[in-house]
Amino acid sequence: MNYQLFGTKTGLRVSELALGTSNFGTATSYGADPAEARRIWEGYVAAGGNFIDTSDAYQQGEAERLVGQFMGADRGDFVLASKYSRTASPTAALAQLGNHRKAMTQAVEASLRRLGTDYLDLYLVHLPDSVTPVAEIARGFEDLARAGKILYGGFSNFPAWRVAAAVTLAELRGWIPLVGVQVEFSLLQRTAERELLPMAEGLGLGVMGYSPLGGGVLTGKYRQGESGRATVVGAEVDSPRINTMLDVLLAVAQEVGAAPGQVATAWAKARGVLPIIGARTRAQLDDQLRSAQLQLSPEQLQRLDAVSAVPLGYPHELLAAQHNLLTGNRADRVSWPARPVA
Ligand SMILES: NC(=O)c1ccc[n+]([C@@H]2O[C@H](COP(=O)([O-])OP(=O)(O)OC[C@H]3O[C@@H](n4cnc5c(N)ncnc54)[C@H](OP(=O)(O)O)[C@@H]3O)[C@@H](O)[C@H]2O)c1
Repeated sequence: MNYQLFGTKTGLRVSELALGTSNFGTATSYGADPAEARRIWEGYVAAGGNFIDTSDAYQQGEAERLVGQFMGADRGDFVLASKYSRTASPTAALAQLGNHRKAMTQAVEASLRRLGTDYLDLYLVHLPDSVTPVAEIARGFEDLARAGKILYGGFSNFPAWRVAAAVTLAELRGWIPLVGVQVEFSLLQRTAERELLPMAEGLGLGVMGYSPLGGGVLTGKYRQGESGRATVVGAEVDSPRINTMLDVLLAVAQEVGAAPGQVATAWAKARGVLPIIGARTRAQLDDQLRSAQLQLSPEQLQRLDAVSAVPLGYPHELLAAQHNLLTGNRADRVSWPARPVA
């Protein structure tokens, strides 16, 4: 396993694959039992992994409890990220839910208790509640940091403009750095490339990409008629878009002698996103860890890019079309960034 900085706002070094824990536990009746979760943990740690992603909501708090047990006395060796907004209880009172300071304050205490630690390395707001201002969230993170409960803050599933406003405000006010975002990113979900990824690059934020296998679809197993999470939750597994994508993914996998899921994860990494592996079994983890060694050629990456591209829309397409105009028809002699700076 190699290590990299998580964004450029901090010297924090994390492993190139993060361990997702939404499958740790069976409280939602689908996941890994504690013994299997421990085997997944041990495999990840043995491979050199140090970046753990969890949430109060995963398996109704069971995931955090298991992570706490597995870390034990080695807590200091891990970069531990957790999230709030949804709580561990499916029947939580309204006052406990959302992004506001009351929810944040109560949630962090509950997470710390379940995790058996007195601080989180990274605390993310899980998803927007559509009402709490980002200034309240950023100030809440600052207060938690001053109280010694978190080291850094971040955002998950937020629109880019709201993250950018919060990061800028925190910087101007001298609050703790908001260092990263967590977004869905895979060959099947690339819309983060429109605003979120350029924003992260521009502001020096680390990017954790969740669902790198599209929930398992990108392993190609549903083509073999297997069942799994996607069929259990009734997700789409064989639309024309998915099939066109899988044709190219399987071809590249065969060329490099790897499993399709490993190629999909290596592709996400090559796009500058740090994948969060979501194994449900130790065998799946071992399989996914092999993506760290996989090198795809520029030509293979280009084929995967081409088959999975999403329209960037306005204003990006207008900007691309304006190159000639803005360079006085000397576009061939002016070097542009790979993607125009908006
Ligand atoms: N911030 C957020 O809102 C958010 C949302 C989602 C996830 N996350 C984080 O991201 C992590 C990963 O997300 P994800 O679980 O959606 O990732 P994913 O990799 O897209 O999907 C994981 C699923 O793929 C299947 N799988 C994994 N490895 C496999 C293999 N080698 N062969 C065959 N099937 C395999 C398993 O499903 P089967 O059950 O079919 O075996 C597993 O449950 C989560 O654990 C969580 O930490 C964050």
